[in-house]
Amino acid sequence: MTRGTFISFEGIDGAGKSTHVASVAAFFRQAGRAVVLTREPGGTTLSEKLRELVLHEPMDALTEALLMFAARREHLVQVIEPALARGDVVLCDRFTDATFAYQGGGRGFDWQVLVQLERRVQALPDGSLRQPDLTVWFDLDPLIAAERLASARVPDKFESQPVDFFAAVRAGYARRQAEMPERFARIDAAQTREAVGADVARVVTPWLQRSAA
Ligand code: TMP
Repeated sequence: MTRGTFISFEGIDGAGKSTHVASVAAFFRQAGRAVVLTREPGGTTLSEKLRELVLHEPMDALTEALLMFAARREHLVQVIEPALARGDVVLCDRFTDATFAYQGGGRGFDWQVLVQLERRVQALPDGSLRQPDLTVWFDLDPLIAAERLASARVPDKFESQPVDFFAAVRAGYARRQAEMPERFARIDAAQTREAVGADVARVVTPWLQRSAA
């Protein structure tokens, strides 16, 4: 079966992932690969509307988790699955691990309910579960991230959370990595931007060879 390559990028707010995601897209494109660069929550017209709501409106924890998965379902059906079927490289700025980290870790929402929602939303016709082939986790001490964010844009609902919240989000990512170590690559995001970029290049390069030219 011809299928593409699915790479997600994760980390707490302020970890600095977005610039590196753009570099990875350029790297694959220069090598002649068809790249779909997308993000969550978002990636479709409806999912971007849901993003606006979920990032700016106060809401119940279950509502928040359901909206994240609703946006993800649309994104999978409309964008990600068709791209993977074509053999493209899908680069996604956040995916399901963010829900486990933010809603599960940060908000303390029931982890097993998230597991059930994930099973339903990411189910493939053959009964298997869609997961990224590789998840690049930009891991950073929340105190350092807070310093970086202090000088950044106007914060959204999540970015304005206290450091303790991000410590819990970070623990959520660590738990996901422990549960699925085979697809995770942890990058030390406290390094210089150049050093982080070199680490990112090292973990994504094997997937260039495996993706269709
Ligand atoms: P971004 O600023 O990296 O685009 O991410 C948007 C925010 O949404 C970020 O603070 C993390 C949060 N988020 C969740 O809480 N749950 C999720 O499932 C996703 C994808 C993002």
